Amino acid sequence: MNDLVHLAIIMDGNGRWAKRQGKERSFGHKEGAKKVREITKYAAKMGIKYLTLYAFSTENWNRPSKFSPSLQKEIAYAKEMTAHCTGLRQILAINYGAHDEILRAINKSLQVNGEITKEILESNLDTAGIPPVDVLIRTGGDCRLSNFLLWQAAYAELFFSKTLWPDFSVGELETIVSEYLQTERRFGGIV
Ligand code: IPE
Ligand code: IPE
Ligand code: MG
Repeated sequence: MNDLVHLAIIMDGNGRWAKRQGKERSFGHKEGAKKVREITKYAAKMGIKYLTLYAFSTENWNRPSKFSPSLQKEIAYAKEMTAHCTGLRQILAINYGAHDEILRAINKSLQVNGEITKEILESNLDTAGIPPVDVLIRTGGDCRLSNFLLWQAAYAELFFSKTLWPDFSVGELETIVSEYLQTERRFGGIV
């Protein structure tokens, strides 16, 4: 059976969820944040070691401003308060884009003499030291990666759900995980 060490989620569909109820898009983002709590707790209970959540992309700056100083403070506070924790590691991808990340990693790698190896490049990614993605879920109905973890998800099992993120449930996650556990991962080889 497959191990599930690293789960990554593109939490899409928050704005549409709110609009459908005649509410502001920001209401959807608040509900989405509650969902993050629920799913994170559940992932920790399942023994998942890394949970990477796509919260805000480098391309999302094309939207009205979002990151107030008070929000930035809250994030710093949460980091400080959980620094001693040893269970699941929750990774928030904020102002993240894979193209930007890979370019920065290449430029850092160039400072080393000789050929850039896979190991050198990976040690300069934002996810240095974190194993590759096993399962990548995107909610919200679109089947694209939107510049998320393009390097790390090279052999990830992809799951696209029509559910809008605030409606995503532990039950749906369980269904995805049980399908993943039965998937034959070949990594280019044969069985
Ligand atoms: C994803 O939800 C979260 C962010 C990009 C911040 P959206 O805000 O993209 O919601 P939809 O996809 O428009 O419904
Ligand atoms: C992807 O959602 C980014 C996040 C969920 C943070 P987007 O809503 O930005 O993606 P596109 O624009 O539909 O590709
Ligand atoms: Mg979206």
